[in-house]
Amino acid sequence: MDDLKAKYLAAIGDAKDEATLEELRVQAVGKKGEISLKMRELGRMTPEERQVAGPALNALKDEINSALSAKKVALVDAALDERLKTEWLDVTLPARDARVGTIHPVSQVWEECTAIFADMGFSVSEGPQIEDDWYNFDALNIPSHHPARAEMDTFYMHRAEGDNRPPHVLRTHTSPVQIRAMQAQGAPIRTISPGRVYRADYDQTHTPMFHQVEGLAIDRDISMANLKWVLEEFFTAYFGTPVKTRFRASHFPFTEPSAEIDIQCSWEGGTVKVGEGDDWLEVLGSGMVHPKVLEAAGVDPAEWQGFAFGMGIDRIAMLKYGIPDLRAFFDSDLRWLRHYGFSALQVPTIRGGV
Ligand code: DAH
Repeated sequence: MDDLKAKYLAAIGDAKDEATLEELRVQAVGKKGEISLKMRELGRMTPEERQVAGPALNALKDEINSALSAKKVALVDAALDERLKTEWLDVTLPARDARVGTIHPVSQVWEECTAIFADMGFSVSEGPQIEDDWYNFDALNIPSHHPARAEMDTFYMHRAEGDNRPPHVLRTHTSPVQIRAMQAQGAPIRTISPGRVYRADYDQTHTPMFHQVEGLAIDRDISMANLKWVLEEFFTAYFGTPVKTRFRASHFPFTEPSAEIDIQCSWEGGTVKVGEGDDWLEVLGSGMVHPKVLEAAGVDPAEWQGFAFGMGIDRIAMLKYGIPDLRAFFDSDLRWLRHYGFSALQVPTIRGGV
């Protein structure tokens, strides 16, 4: 028994892995193991012999079993120590940045416009993008065969065969929201309407969908002078620098008189800079709202008058943020969006004492 004990304890002590340990267990205390066989011999012994050999064998078995489990724990610990030497984490490293989305320049400028005009008392009105023919054209003094309709490159919606009503259109401008706002609120009114508009046109400076912001101010004695002040105030706040404007006589069916507005800029060095130099850039159409338009919207032109304007949001975004190609606005290219996009936490940059 002492030999058995010495043999197994030494072998267990030398075992290098769990598989060897398991083999030793089977050899010593498994069903047909050496110690188990010895125990079977107990039956053939005299009771006196058994009284000595029995407890001794049991003690040996226990001792081997505990040596096996102690060694097993030691092997597992050693394996873990070995792994910890190579597989470790530096928990003091800074965390990787989570990818953060950006605010599209159009959304940013939309917000900036809203904030600046809100400071001047303008509310925000909305209208549908699929617009009734009457709102998009007739109510704005553009009757059926008016050339302005053809110039607009309108997208027409489908009508069922035999339905002779004029088709709905994808609104070609935000001007129909003027009519909807006046119908809803009457006069006096001071409101802007930013939104998407659609025209069948595609080249470097035109996309079939783009954005405008409409402005409308109706009261008893609103004049072109108020229009000029509001727009100059807007440009100064928007570009963060005083900007000269130039009013050019123009024509729109829904205003009389009408003016196109240019802002001062320079093209020095191949890039456009607003607010300096002696070139001009057209940025919006405007004028005094035509009496017929007021009438169509249920506002009495004998009592009320005012101005309206329509400005390209994408265009003024390109100017302020130096974005060269309009088409890239709507490509959804992540690299472009990361480059030109804004942090969601960035407050719209508007300046100037409005
Ligand atoms: N609706 C015009 C366009 O899309 C822009 C415009 C011009 C709007 C004059 C106005 C305005 O409100 O008075 O080209």
